[in-house]
Amino acid sequence: MNAKQKIAAQSLTGRHPELGTGPVSTDIYCDPQFYERELTGIFRRTWLCVGRVEQAPKVGDFFQKDLPTFGFAVIIARAKDQKLRAFFNVCHHRGNHVELRQSGHCVAFTCPFHGWTYGLDGKLVGVPDASGFFALDKSQLGLRQLALDVWEGFIFVNIDPAPSQTLAAAMGEQGRDLAGYAFDGGTAVFEYEGTIECNWKCMIDSFCETYHVPILHKHSVKETLAGPDNPYGRLIDCRLKGPHRTMSVWGNMAYTPNPVQGLAWQYSPGPAVTSGVRDERAVLPKGLNETRAPNWSLDVAVFFPNWLIVMGSGMYFTHQMWPLSANKVVWQMRGFLRPASNAAQRFGQENAMVELRDAVLEDCNTLERIQVSLDQGLITEMLYHDHEIGLRHQYHVVKQWVEDFERSFNPDHSAQEAP
Ligand code: FES
Ligand SMILES: [Fe+2]
Repeated sequence: MNAKQKIAAQSLTGRHPELGTGPVSTDIYCDPQFYERELTGIFRRTWLCVGRVEQAPKVGDFFQKDLPTFGFAVIIARAKDQKLRAFFNVCHHRGNHVELRQSGHCVAFTCPFHGWTYGLDGKLVGVPDASGFFALDKSQLGLRQLALDVWEGFIFVNIDPAPSQTLAAAMGEQGRDLAGYAFDGGTAVFEYEGTIECNWKCMIDSFCETYHVPILHKHSVKETLAGPDNPYGRLIDCRLKGPHRTMSVWGNMAYTPNPVQGLAWQYSPGPAVTSGVRDERAVLPKGLNETRAPNWSLDVAVFFPNWLIVMGSGMYFTHQMWPLSANKVVWQMRGFLRPASNAAQRFGQENAMVELRDAVLEDCNTLERIQVSLDQGLITEMLYHDHEIGLRHQYHVVKQWVEDFERSFNPDHSAQEAP
């Protein structure tokens, strides 16, 4: 069997009869009531990535992270005991933000309204004219803390004051299988952000299938992620691991870069993720290119609910989706590169950044058109290809989480009530 026959013969959905093969209802992608249920049943009780440990390496370092879904920011700070903690940016006196800078270094947070001061561990340490208050118990008035934990240098918080799972348990098998990747090597960071008028799950879906690559991305990444041996953009593999999933994406090793790409790739510190070129120095963890396919370009590892890592062997970047409503989402992309040591390498990085940006924008405007069709009820079912299994999986996981959570409060709640 040659490479083309091999990829055509692969059935991914067939491995998961529990997901079925029928059409999938569009309701959970546009129903405002279901969105409210997602907030309670998913976003208020799952671990959400807020940054990396390199953003606050020293005692006194802090940064803020906006959580657009909730409309507030959290402060992440490293205290004298070297521990990172996460706080709501809310003063206990009358609710002002205690810190206005996005990041910095300090010995304490002093509220700019009346000067209440909080240590890096969140304890209230100073109240001007404290004798004028009535029975003030400073020990009870520290900054409100959120649960925080770290996976492979990524910092996560949980809005739930008593999370039902540890972060390690939540990251599960996929987290264990990807541990050991050189995440800390990508210290040159670039970011893109946008508000896209589509459901947050549709935005994730666009990274979970490459069926669209030869068509939608015909002017950008088609020739690198599809090619004569894989004309329809089939995946190498898709592994479902609890609520998470990893898609291994095919790469055209015979691709000849255009002149500008050729120069950029030659000088890029670590290959561009769109190049299909692998960095032979990198040692891959078990969960990356798990089938060890020779024509592999990258993996897309989606961590439920709203975070995914696109991982090559020399570069990686993350996407995070923060829903604002059933049909609007804030998309944040962060790329992690090795620091450039000369202008030629910097040029190589810039080329990779704009190639990535352009490819994602092709997805975004398509997603906005889809959302109009969903919102207007002009399509009520979606038909998933075998290699769109990641989308089918997300549909089932989201429904399951919402329904299980509601059932835990009301055992009589019937799954049929869910849209
Ligand atoms: S609101 Fe912060 S000191 Fe008054
Ligand atoms: Fe795409």
